[in-house]
Amino acid sequence: MTSIYFDHAATTPMIPEAVAAYAEAAGAGPGNPSSLHAFGRASRSRVTAARDTLARLLGCMPSELVFTGSGTESDNSALFGAAVAQRAKGRTGIVTTAVEHHAVLNACLQLEKQGFRLTVLPADETGRVSPEAAAAAIDESTAVVSVMAGNNETGTLQPYEEIGRIARERGAVMHVDAVQAFGYERWNLQSLPVDLISVSAHKINGPQGVGLLYVKRGTPFQPLLHGGTQERARRAGTENVPGISAFAEAANIAFRNMDERIRHVRDVRDSFLQALQAELGEDAFQLNGHQELRLPHIANVSFFGMSSETLLMNLDLAGVAASGGSACTSGSLQPSHVLTAMNLSRERVQSAVRFSFGFGNTREEAEKTAKIIATISARLRIS
Ligand SMILES: Cc1ncc(COP(=O)(O)O)c(C=O)c1O
Repeated sequence: MTSIYFDHAATTPMIPEAVAAYAEAAGAGPGNPSSLHAFGRASRSRVTAARDTLARLLGCMPSELVFTGSGTESDNSALFGAAVAQRAKGRTGIVTTAVEHHAVLNACLQLEKQGFRLTVLPADETGRVSPEAAAAAIDESTAVVSVMAGNNETGTLQPYEEIGRIARERGAVMHVDAVQAFGYERWNLQSLPVDLISVSAHKINGPQGVGLLYVKRGTPFQPLLHGGTQERARRAGTENVPGISAFAEAANIAFRNMDERIRHVRDVRDSFLQALQAELGEDAFQLNGHQELRLPHIANVSFFGMSSETLLMNLDLAGVAASGGSACTSGSLQPSHVLTAMNLSRERVQSAVRFSFGFGNTREEAEKTAKIIATISARLRIS
């Protein structure tokens, strides 16, 4: 049977170089990076080398990087870390957007329960939030502003630099969830008006269960986890040494091949959309999200007359893996909070499927998937 993986926004396959780096570190014998003996020092040197690599790729200081256990943990650490530290200065406002991943939205709702004042910025029908709305919401009492770089469901990019500048001017800490944009954008963190950035290894062909949080020097920050003094007392817990080594390897390759990667996924995505047009006709589907300001690896498409669940089930039976929204909500029948926030019609929300492309995908797979969708569509119309 066909086996096509178009769900790279949920997670990506580990590349062989990352698997090799993982196996090498995991097989190297014991060694807690906090131990002072030779075994511990060998382990620590792996973590140090990985941190140096990531700092070079991101244009920041190694000491500004904190390894975590996931993108979700990076988001929570950023939000709670900065909000609690800012509250000590009398700042109690949180500003975020309606299209954030649940790792941010639910953390913000939790902060609201703890007494913070939450403002959720609306998105337009392309999924963009406006810097003007952000400017009206951010004031001298704002503790943290959290705006994602690129959306995990639609790929729409946000004006986070512009909003970051406003946040900075008003003394608020600026956080960016860059879990989906990581590996598709080059940053120089020294000059970017952002204080905290969350990323995750498994979205760039690295291992699951490893995240990274950039904490700009001088940013008010309280650790979320309490325990040892690992990661300069910003994230307690023994480091995932093999995962961190593999993450650095995957990131190195992702950044080295970034232009080629972007060209590749864009080509697969465009072939897919062209093939859909040829197979179904242009009135049968609609691409959701911003048409230009978007990440290249995500295509969120509504298919008129079909429900997401039915289409996803039939695609799965035909060997094609796609998704109905973010991975965390797939499996539940809740309509996507992102598409709902974009004010799309009920039909468009309920017929949306996310296809996300990456390493190993081909144009042929894209064309084949479009043909499979046309067959499913014809079959559903008859029955
Ligand atoms: C935008 C965004 N933020 C956060 C996360 C959570 O990352 P993790 O799966 O590493 O916890 C995801 C994962 O899908 C994401 O897409």
